[in-house]
Amino acid sequence: MKVESLAPVLEAIRNRRSSPLMQPTAPSKDLIQQILQAAACAPNHYRTSPWRFTVVAGSARQEMGRIMAASLLERVEDDEDDEKVGAELDALLEKESSKPLRAPIIIAVACVPSDQPKVSEIEEICACAAAVQNMLLAAEGLGLGAMWRTGKPADDPRIKRFLSFPDNSRLIAFVYVGYPAISSQHERMRDPDPYVRWLGEFPDVT
Ligand SMILES: Cc1cc2nc3c(=O)[nH]c(=O)nc-3n(C[C@H](O)[C@H](O)[C@H](O)COP(=O)(O)O)c2cc1C
Repeated sequence: MKVESLAPVLEAIRNRRSSPLMQPTAPSKDLIQQILQAAACAPNHYRTSPWRFTVVAGSARQEMGRIMAASLLERVEDDEDDEKVGAELDALLEKESSKPLRAPIIIAVACVPSDQPKVSEIEEICACAAAVQNMLLAAEGLGLGAMWRTGKPADDPRIKRFLSFPDNSRLIAFVYVGYPAISSQHERMRDPDPYVRWLGEFPDVT
């Protein structure tokens, strides 16, 4: 591959930023399919395709919000150190139930590790994380905004059931997708140097 043909990829990597606020208009199904195709191109050891995707749109987001609020209520009730009641609790539950409405589309991504003996769970999870990054970059390339979200709902079996993910799955991401409502603040390019060690000789090639 020629170096100049890599430039759009590097541009997408450098420009991508999480989009917390989206416009209400949903991207077309074709655009969402392109994001899913990018996800399925991610590297995965033994070609196990450990990823599963559930696309949540329209009224399904409200249903998801109701389940997230029920999940939160259970956590609040179980927390003896931090009692919340009345208006404070109502406001908290209202906020939780509206979270899926922050974007017109949510693509939930779960990892279902292969049961082949040679496959390790961490590798399956890494492959799914690579798939999610492909989704974020595909969204960037398609002129869409995206944001990787997780939080406590990702651990709730009720959410997994709603999304048709099996019990043995690990929820990796809620990828919020839409047209950004505000342009993301692009920081200067991040500097990897503090995190890098070079071992051995490096050829001085121009
Ligand atoms: C595994 C993972 C989980 C994340 N979960 C959340 C989340 O629950 N809520 C949130 O606001 N951002 C979440 N993010 C997004 C990060 O906050 C975001 O990537 C970070 O602030 C860097 O900003 P950038 O994406 O614009 O570079 C998550 C990112 C990753 C990789």
